[in-house]
Amino acid sequence: MSDPLLQVKNIKAGYGEIQVLWDVNFSIEKGAISCIVGSNGAGKTTLLRALSGLIPTRGGEFIFDGIPITGLSTKKILQAGIAHVPEARRLFKGLSVRDNLLLGAYLRKDSRLEINHDLEWIYSLFPILSERSSQDATTMSGGEQQMCAIGRGLMARPKLLLIDELSLGLAPRAVEKLTEALLAINQQGLSILLVEQDVMTAFDLSSYGVVIETGKVTLTGSTAYLSEEPRVREAYLGV
Ligand SMILES: Nc1ncnc2c1ncn2[C@@H]1O[C@H](COP(=O)(O)OP(=O)(O)O)[C@@H](O)[C@H]1O
Ligand SMILES: [Mg+2]
Repeated sequence: MSDPLLQVKNIKAGYGEIQVLWDVNFSIEKGAISCIVGSNGAGKTTLLRALSGLIPTRGGEFIFDGIPITGLSTKKILQAGIAHVPEARRLFKGLSVRDNLLLGAYLRKDSRLEINHDLEWIYSLFPILSERSSQDATTMSGGEQQMCAIGRGLMARPKLLLIDELSLGLAPRAVEKLTEALLAINQQGLSILLVEQDVMTAFDLSSYGVVIETGKVTLTGSTAYLSEEPRVREAYLGV
């Protein structure tokens, strides 16, 4: 890979006695949308948590934009440019859409003007959030909450946006709106790493894919290649 944004090298991680990730290796390219696919329990969320510093690694290294970030705090990793949209979105109950979005910018030292400018940018990507600006974010539909969670991630002005389960539990029309917005954001230069249980959706959106099975990478490659790969077709595409 000529210009890797993220290199994952021999990453090991787990919980207590249980090892979940076994020497996970792959790289993703700068400027691309990449995806990690694999069955429930394969270790996708664990990998994103380790990358964001939410759980410790037990070996291996993450190199982000040429800099080792393994073992840094969540705050330092966010400042280095990795924002994480967690599984199940986790918006703050009792806070408005606007305040949830602003929380994404809490580490930035930019002026209020710049932060308000970015808020307007999020509202232009997801106009419904502008209409719902003062509503409790957790009372919105699943699709709208996902927009808000992605918007909150974008408010950190990251170089890489991690999204854990973009489409889980959402209506097809909502997924369509989200994918359109992600393509637009990617065209503006943001790199995206998706974790997605719906392999078809993941491959439609991404140019590169990583397949994880029981904590190990079993296949990597362009999504054009992976969608023709017999094992992937059989296990994940049902063809
Ligand atoms: N907090 C935790 N404590 C103990 N085991 C966990 C915890 N979270 C996940 N696991 C286990 O780690 C494995 C991988 O889970 P996870 O990374 O959530 O998979 P995926 O996101 O691919 O569905 C599973 O066997 C799961 O039961
Ligand atoms: Mg998961």
